[in-house]
Amino acid sequence: MATELTPHGLREIADGFRERHRPGEVRALMVAGSGIRLDLPGWQAGEEIALADVFPFQLHGLIGHRQTMTLWRRGTQTILAMNGRLHLYQGYSPAEVVAPVRLAGLLGAGLMLATNASGALDPAIPPGSLVVVSDHLNLQGANPLVGDWGRSFGPPFPDMSEAYDPGLRRLAVEAAAEAGFAVREGVYAAVLGPSFETPAEVRMLGRMGGAVVGMSTVPEVIAARQMGMKVLVLSLATNPGAGLIDRPLSHEEVLEAGAAAAQRLRVLLGLLVQRLFDA
Ligand code: HPA
Repeated sequence: MATELTPHGLREIADGFRERHRPGEVRALMVAGSGIRLDLPGWQAGEEIALADVFPFQLHGLIGHRQTMTLWRRGTQTILAMNGRLHLYQGYSPAEVVAPVRLAGLLGAGLMLATNASGALDPAIPPGSLVVVSDHLNLQGANPLVGDWGRSFGPPFPDMSEAYDPGLRRLAVEAAAEAGFAVREGVYAAVLGPSFETPAEVRMLGRMGGAVVGMSTVPEVIAARQMGMKVLVLSLATNPGAGLIDRPLSHEEVLEAGAAAAQRLRVLLGLLVQRLFDA
C-alpha cells in the first residue's frame, strides 16, 4: 500500500485495489450519508472493506458513520458503496475526503450517486423531505483541487455549470413519482460545520438561493466532476434550519429523522440503480 496520500500514491492504491479485489467493470460509486443503508435489487453485497485497509491516513470515528466500503457485485460488474463518508469537519483534508471518489474514478466508475442529510432552509420543506440537488453553494472554504491534486486527475479548472447531471435529476424525479414519493429540486448550501447554523446564517443561506444546508458532499462532487463522472445527489432534509422552529437542534434528532425517511430513500436508490444498469 502507498504510504502517503499523493496523486501518485492514489494511483498505486487503485492498482493494488484492482489486484486484490478484482472489481471488474466498476459502474458507479454510491455514497450513503448519515443513517442510510443501501439495498440494491439484483446486486449482492460482497466484501465490506475497512477504509483503514485501503487508504494511508488516520481515520476518525463518529457515531452514525462507519468507515467501510462495500463491493456490490453482479456478475463481472461492481458498484462501490461507501458506508458513510469522510467530512472536512472531522479534520480530514479535502484530498482525504475525496480519496474514495478518486479511487472509484481511477477504477473506471463513470457515475457517483450520493445521499446526504441536510437542514431545510425553507419552511415549505418539512423534515423527512427528499431533495434532488440541482446545484450547490460551496461555502466550506475548501476545494479538493487545490495544489498538485488539481493538475493530476482532469482539467485544472473544471466546468461546474451542470455539475448535477440534468438527465439523472429527471430520472430521479420520475422514479420518485413512480414510487409515490414527493421530491423537489433545490440548491445544496455546503458549510464546514460541525456546529449547526445560527438563525442568521439560515436566513442568509436561504436568501443566497439555498434550499437545504449540509456539511458534506460538495468536495466529492467537485472531485467527481473533474474526473468526468456524472453526479446525482439526493438530500434528505432531516430538520428545519435553526430559527425556522423555536427549539435547538440535536445530532440524535438528525439521525432519527434520517432513519425514518431512509426507507423511501432506499427504495428510490434501488429503482435508480435498476433504471441505470438493467438493460
Ligand atoms: N445543518 C447542517 N447540516 C445538517 C443539518 C443542518 O441543519 N441537518 C443535517 N445536516
